[in-house]
Amino acid sequence: MRKKIVAGNWKMNTTLQEGVGLAKDVNEALKKVQPKCDVVICVPFTHLAPVNDVIDQSKLGLGAENCADHDKGAYTGEVSAPMVASTGATYVILGHSERRQYYGETSDTLKTKVNLALQNNLTPIFCIGEVLEQRENGTYLDVVKSQIEEALFGLSADDFSKLILAYEPVWAIGTGKTATDDQAQEMHAFIRDVIEKQYGKKVSENISILYGGSCKPSNAAGLFAKPDVDGGLIGGASLDAESFMGIVNAF
Ligand code: PGA
Repeated sequence: MRKKIVAGNWKMNTTLQEGVGLAKDVNEALKKVQPKCDVVICVPFTHLAPVNDVIDQSKLGLGAENCADHDKGAYTGEVSAPMVASTGATYVILGHSERRQYYGETSDTLKTKVNLALQNNLTPIFCIGEVLEQRENGTYLDVVKSQIEEALFGLSADDFSKLILAYEPVWAIGTGKTATDDQAQEMHAFIRDVIEKQYGKKVSENISILYGGSCKPSNAAGLFAKPDVDGGLIGGASLDAESFMGIVNAF
């Protein structure tokens, strides 16, 4: 059975002190409920180890928002997958559209990053999604298919099964414009289909596919009710413990 997951993506927000405070708030809030999903927060590199110290990872998973495409060496300013793992984090977001768009990440780089993450026992939360123009000109399914094929289809079935995917239409990220429940379902079912053709039904049925893009407490329940939507990757609404919990409790 595939897992239901709500994961926060804090992006480049919060100072260390604010971030530790937010993590503590989410951790406290989780003690009071029995969530029907796994809950994860992905935080800036600087926050990983201190956040790890204040959360109970049996209830709240911890992840990074990126990792380097090398495992060590002369790459000033980069943070490697082994470094992320050494903080206690067990997840890493890879291929976020902001990384692709502003930092030139390509499928080739991402292939390397996914391999390094897996070698270091980190679970990649791998993001895919089309831009507005591709949605409007009708190529959005092909675009997402290519993103998956190029970066991920070199993996063995065993390794592919360790991934979490996040469909994040770029036009919905941080814009307040969410995909409709049906638009999300169409894409998620399509993604499962693409995976089934490569890896078979068992793998495609068991992989968790999250939706991301202006997901909030008011629209989460509708999205999560769709059969192929297994949860959310939450940006803006994860920066406030109450709204993040509102999404967790949408399950
Ligand atoms: P958003 O971001 O929820 O602020 O739209 C989602 C994401 O980029 O992961």
